[in-house]
Amino acid sequence: MHLDVSRHLFPVAFIRKYIDELALYKFNTFHWHLTDDQGWRIEIKKYPELQRKAAYRTETLIGHKKELPHRFDGKRYGGYYTQAEVRDIVRYATQRHITVIPEIEMPGHAMAALSAYPELGCLKPNGQPGGPYQAATFWGVFDDVFCAGNESTFAFLEGVLDEVMALFPSTYIHVGGDECPKTRWKTCAKCQARIRNEHLKDEDELQSYFIRRIEQHVNKKGRQVIGWDEILEGGLSPGATVMSWRGIEGGIEAIRQKHNAIMTPESHVYFDYYQSLYPEEPLAAAGYTPLSKVYAYEPVPANIGPEEAIYLKGVQGTAWSEYLDSPAKAEYMIFPRAIAVAEIAWSQRQHRNYPDFLRRLRLQDALLKRLNVTYAKRFDELTDSVSISPTGSLQLALSTTLPGATIRYTTDGADPIESSAVYTHPIEINQTKTLKAIAYLRNQPQGRLFQKTLTISKSTGKPVTFTTEPTGSYRPASPLVAVNGIAGTSRYNTGEWIGFQGKDADILIDLQSVQSITSLGTHVLNYHWQRMWSPDTLSVAVSDDGKTFREVYLQTKFPINGINPVNATFPPTQARYVRIRATNKGVIPPGEYGAGGKAWLMLDEFQIN
Ligand code: ACM
Ligand code: ZN
Repeated sequence: MHLDVSRHLFPVAFIRKYIDELALYKFNTFHWHLTDDQGWRIEIKKYPELQRKAAYRTETLIGHKKELPHRFDGKRYGGYYTQAEVRDIVRYATQRHITVIPEIEMPGHAMAALSAYPELGCLKPNGQPGGPYQAATFWGVFDDVFCAGNESTFAFLEGVLDEVMALFPSTYIHVGGDECPKTRWKTCAKCQARIRNEHLKDEDELQSYFIRRIEQHVNKKGRQVIGWDEILEGGLSPGATVMSWRGIEGGIEAIRQKHNAIMTPESHVYFDYYQSLYPEEPLAAAGYTPLSKVYAYEPVPANIGPEEAIYLKGVQGTAWSEYLDSPAKAEYMIFPRAIAVAEIAWSQRQHRNYPDFLRRLRLQDALLKRLNVTYAKRFDELTDSVSISPTGSLQLALSTTLPGATIRYTTDGADPIESSAVYTHPIEINQTKTLKAIAYLRNQPQGRLFQKTLTISKSTGKPVTFTTEPTGSYRPASPLVAVNGIAGTSRYNTGEWIGFQGKDADILIDLQSVQSITSLGTHVLNYHWQRMWSPDTLSVAVSDDGKTFREVYLQTKFPINGINPVNATFPPTQARYVRIRATNKGVIPPGEYGAGGKAWLMLDEFQIN
């Protein structure tokens, strides 16, 4: 298990408690993320400005970073662990058979360090020193990084690592390597001189040069480096272990190169994601990762054989703390999902059984209560799935894992009560309706109220063709997701959003008979922090024969940061086929999250009337 203490700091007493919790569930490694843009959290005696300056930020973002404009609390925030405290924690962990792996971030996520030692930043295009720098007050990826052309950067980081290695006896030292924009390096005379003198091809190779040099220093002390999967770009340093977070591909690539890998895919084991779909859930960073999804994750990739699997060193649950602003919130986000990680890490896949895991998890309740662990009991919440019958009608199925529970529901908008209908089989929905449901146990309502609106239109349940294929995990289980009555939400990874990475969307709906239509509704998602960009254009064209199409609507502006409703209206038109085309933003522009990569184009439900 990992814990980020830069975005929010946790008292030593909580770090000890966390180690106790990890030991209880047989974790053997604690990945301690000690430095980042928002604060430097480990005392380094050689560099006192880290304690005086880099450990503090002037204020902190309020709410989610996607809410613009950003609002701030105006309160200075910070602190750090003294070397005596670090030694105490390492000793405490060792006694509990846990190795603490420290992470010192480089070359990116360095704003706090640069605020203390601005001479370690790049030169400006005019040759002047960069800066001034400040520890970041909001969450994201920042262009200001350690200068890779500057010898003092390496002297500094080696000095830091020498003290770190004296404190932590772990074989592995994590050196970060993730999310390092190359913007400053491209215009810094020192970085460009380094590229020339070292005969490097580009800035990606410069990052590899950086990590390789640091690795040599770490190796001299008999230690090994771990880096996030970006260290693959521009070439892996000889002995590096790759921590795969942007999916599992980086881990697979490392294994293929006979390097060690650790799996911590954001999609399955990042615990800053929501674990509940309910609107009352406290603020979290990103999409939806319920306990069941964590448990279903198999760390050994399907295409990796036993002789290669020896390079897979383990699986990690990762806890970024942007929205984990107290020990209780950290525990709430981490438990019980970490317990599922322990089980998938230590058991063979044929022995795993989710209902049995839940049975055993319930037995932990008394223990977790006694140990004062604030864990989330959201895993029994009602969930639904919507399917489309062969005749095109919507069927909504409800389920809960709560033993002995009865589900009661209404479709007239009223909150369900003890005498409401008992759910026995999927409910057919033929008109726009809000379904409300709640679990009952011995006549007592349990947990939160489930609510879902299904919107019925002329396109509901009608055949859909994706002329361009959606991409990866945003390819829906069936094209009918585009006409299943359910809009996408801010929990963008639940299967309702249909995503096209780096390519256009071209979708055809067959209304199965010529009808009079006058509107099409959908949404586009604009979440730049998730590389999701609204299209450049969205058009609607109609046809009565499926061959000749006539454009009836064109939109070129999608102004909302977040979910943009599209309400395409046109004069009443006779049509059987409706074609929706949207053009992808293409390459993510410089200065933006994921710059240079392929943008995602995200669409949800289509409602034709
Ligand atoms: C990461 O989540 N940036 C490793
Ligand atoms: Zn530079």
